[in-house]
Amino acid sequence: MKTMRPPGPPAWESARTLQRFRRNRLELFSSLAAEYGDLVYYYMGTQPICLVTDPALIKQILTVDHRQFKKGRLLELAKDMLGEGLLTSEGEFHARQRRIIQPLFHRQMIRAYGETMVEQGSRLRERLQAGQVLDMAQTMMQLTLAIVGQTLFDADVEGEATEVGAAMHTVLDMINLMGNPLALLARKLNIPNPTRQRFLAAKTLLDSTIDGIIADHRSGKSTRHDLIGTLLEARDTEGDGQGMSDLQIRHEALTLFMAGHETTANALAWTWYLLSEHPRVEALLQRELQAVLGDRPPTVDDLPHLVYTRQIMTEVMRLYPPAWILGRRVLNDYAIGAYTLPANCVVLISQQIVHRSPRWFSDPERFLPERWNDDLRQQLPKFAYFPFGGGPRNCIGEAFAWMEGMLLIATLAQKWRFRLVPGHPVEPEPLITLRPKFGLQMRIEAF
Ligand code: HEM
Repeated sequence: MKTMRPPGPPAWESARTLQRFRRNRLELFSSLAAEYGDLVYYYMGTQPICLVTDPALIKQILTVDHRQFKKGRLLELAKDMLGEGLLTSEGEFHARQRRIIQPLFHRQMIRAYGETMVEQGSRLRERLQAGQVLDMAQTMMQLTLAIVGQTLFDADVEGEATEVGAAMHTVLDMINLMGNPLALLARKLNIPNPTRQRFLAAKTLLDSTIDGIIADHRSGKSTRHDLIGTLLEARDTEGDGQGMSDLQIRHEALTLFMAGHETTANALAWTWYLLSEHPRVEALLQRELQAVLGDRPPTVDDLPHLVYTRQIMTEVMRLYPPAWILGRRVLNDYAIGAYTLPANCVVLISQQIVHRSPRWFSDPERFLPERWNDDLRQQLPKFAYFPFGGGPRNCIGEAFAWMEGMLLIATLAQKWRFRLVPGHPVEPEPLITLRPKFGLQMRIEAF
C-alpha cells in the first residue's frame, strides 16, 4: 500500500518555500495552514516538514505519543551552550532529571521568590521618571535577568556581577542566531569568527561563575540561599536515590538561567505594548489594582484576587506567545490520522498560529482579556491555548512565570503607564522566542 503523506505544496516548490520562510515565517505558516488544513507536509530543501495546527493532533504528539519524537535540531545545537540540561536532554536521562528538579518548582517551593520579584520590580519602579524614554523590551529583559540571577544564584546580576549579565546576553544572542544558516555553517566547519569567539569567552565566564558557586556550597563556605544549593541537595527519590554531579548541576543551572528570563521578559514587553494600545483595558487594570492593593505592593497572596491581571497576561500570551513554536523530530515512521510521516521528518507546532485561529477564538486578532471567562475555559479544547507547551516536556517554570509576570505587571502598573514613541515600528521577530524586533521605545507617564 502506498504511504500517504499529508497535503501540502509539492517538493519542487521547496526553494520557494525556503525563500518565503526567510522573508516571513509567520506569514508562511498561517498561509500553509489556511490553504492545506490541520496537517501540512512540505519540504525546505531536502528536509521534510509537517506543520500541525489541530489541537487534538498536537495533544497526541506532545502527550500520548511523545516517545516517538525527539527535540528539534536547534535544541540539539543548543547543547553546545547548555550541555545536557532539561531543555536539551532526551529519553530516560531527561525523565530522571525532571523527577529530581520538578519538586523544586512546585508552587509552595517558589513562593519565597515572590518577594524577590516584587523587590526587583519596586527598585525599577522607583528608578523610573515621568517623561523618560526607555526601550521597554530591553528594560524587561534586565529586570527578569536580575530576578533569575537572584533566585537561582542569590547573585546581584545587575550590580555585583554585570559581567555575568553581559555574558548571559552574549550566550542568549548566540542561541537566537542559531537559526542563521551562515552562523550554522561557520559552527559546523569550526571557522573562527568574532561572534563565536565572543560566545566562547562568555560561556567560559558563566561556567566558571557557576562552578565557583557550586564549590562554595560544597565546601560549606556559601551563605547563599539559592536554587543551586537546592539542586545540590536534590535526590532522585523515586529512582536510584542519587543526586546530580557538579557538571550536571552546572548544565541545569545554566539551562534554568537561560530558559527562565527571556520568555517572561517578552511576555511583559508585549503586555506594555498592548496596554498602551488599549487604554480601556489599562483603566480596568488600574481599577483592579486600586481595589485589591491600594498603594501597597503586591504579594503572592494577592495573586488569586488579581483576576483581571491574570486575564491580561493570558490574553497577551495568546496573541504574542513568547515561545511561539515547538519543534520535534520523528524517530521512526509515524502514523498520524490517515497519514504517515517518515522518520526524521520535522514536526512543527506553532502556538502563534493556533492561538489566532478563528476556529477557537472569536475575533481572534483582538486583544480582549475579558474573553477568558469560565465559558471559554470550559469549551476550549486542550492545546488550543498552550503557551507553556504540554506533556512531559512542558515548561517546568510555568508557575514561576505566572507569579513573576503578574507581580511585575501589578508592581509597575500601580504607578506608571507606558506610551509608544511615534516613529518606532513595532513588529514581532519570530526567532527562538517572539521578541519585538526593533525593541519598544516607550515614554513613561505617571497615573
Ligand atoms: C512566560 C514565560 C515562559 C514561557 C512562555 C515558557 C514556555 C516554555 C515552553 C513552550 C516549553 C516547552 C518547549 C518544548 O516542548 O519544546 C518550555 C520548557 C522549559 N521551560 Fe519555560 N517558559 C517560560 C518561563 C520559564 C521559566 C521562568 C523557567 C525557569 C525558571 C523556564 C524553564 C523551562 C525549562 C527548563 C524547560 C524545559 C523543560 C523540559 O523539557 O523538561 N521557563 N518553556
